[in-house]
Amino acid sequence: MQPGRRPLIAGNWKMNGLKADSSARVRNLATLLRGAAGLPAEIVVCPPATQIAAVVEAAAGTPILVGGQDCHGQPKGAHTGDVSAPMLADLGCRYVIVGHSERRANHGEGDALVAAKAAAVRAAGLVPIICIGETAAERNAGQAVAVAGRQIDASVPAGTTPANTVIAYEPVWAIGTGRTPTIEEIAEMHAAIRARLVGRFGAPAAGVRVLYGGSMKPENAGPILQVADVDGGLIGGASLEAADFFAICRASGPEASAGD
Ligand code: 13P
Repeated sequence: MQPGRRPLIAGNWKMNGLKADSSARVRNLATLLRGAAGLPAEIVVCPPATQIAAVVEAAAGTPILVGGQDCHGQPKGAHTGDVSAPMLADLGCRYVIVGHSERRANHGEGDALVAAKAAAVRAAGLVPIICIGETAAERNAGQAVAVAGRQIDASVPAGTTPANTVIAYEPVWAIGTGRTPTIEEIAEMHAAIRARLVGRFGAPAAGVRVLYGGSMKPENAGPILQVADVDGGLIGGASLEAADFFAICRASGPEASAGD
């Protein structure tokens, strides 16, 4: 982390739990956060769409912000079953994840669609968390940096600024596997992503936050979050336990390097 870029710790709850589970998880997290005043990180949870209203209500009066996991690229229309960015804004969301590798793989979402979704999120006054990351085959072929660069070029819309965009680097092979890149590999990828953002959008884009995601846990969060170009985390499995997610939030603070 660098001065000027506020760490962001986001939990992606994926398709888990029911309303009561999610509300209870937020209340537990809020209790833990109350005992840790002064944590620098911005804290976001992204519940399933059907649970957003309950989670927003449970998070009221706490520092916890709420995000969506996906949205449509159009603000409205004949799109049965879809949820638009203005609908997420209407519920009280502040962020929306777009381009997660599970959507890219399971729903055939390509870079152009991801860019359209990110633009729709911005147009609704929310901030997209745009996910990129290489597969195992691409990494083994020495293509990880090139793939991330191509995804930055094609998935991130014009007009990107630190205020309107967050990037999440999530190597596909690290998601839900318990495997993570080495600290050196993470540092290399994040530096390359930041350089690409600056190359495309100019010097101010150095302030865009770039999160790491993929098997981040309390046990490995400290060293990952200390990497200079890592500005936070996008956490799946470990975000389903309030205590684990809270431990990762704490690892983003300055006191974490003192022995956590
Ligand atoms: P895990 O933390 O479960 O590996 O998931 C990461 C992820 O996909 C977050 O979006």
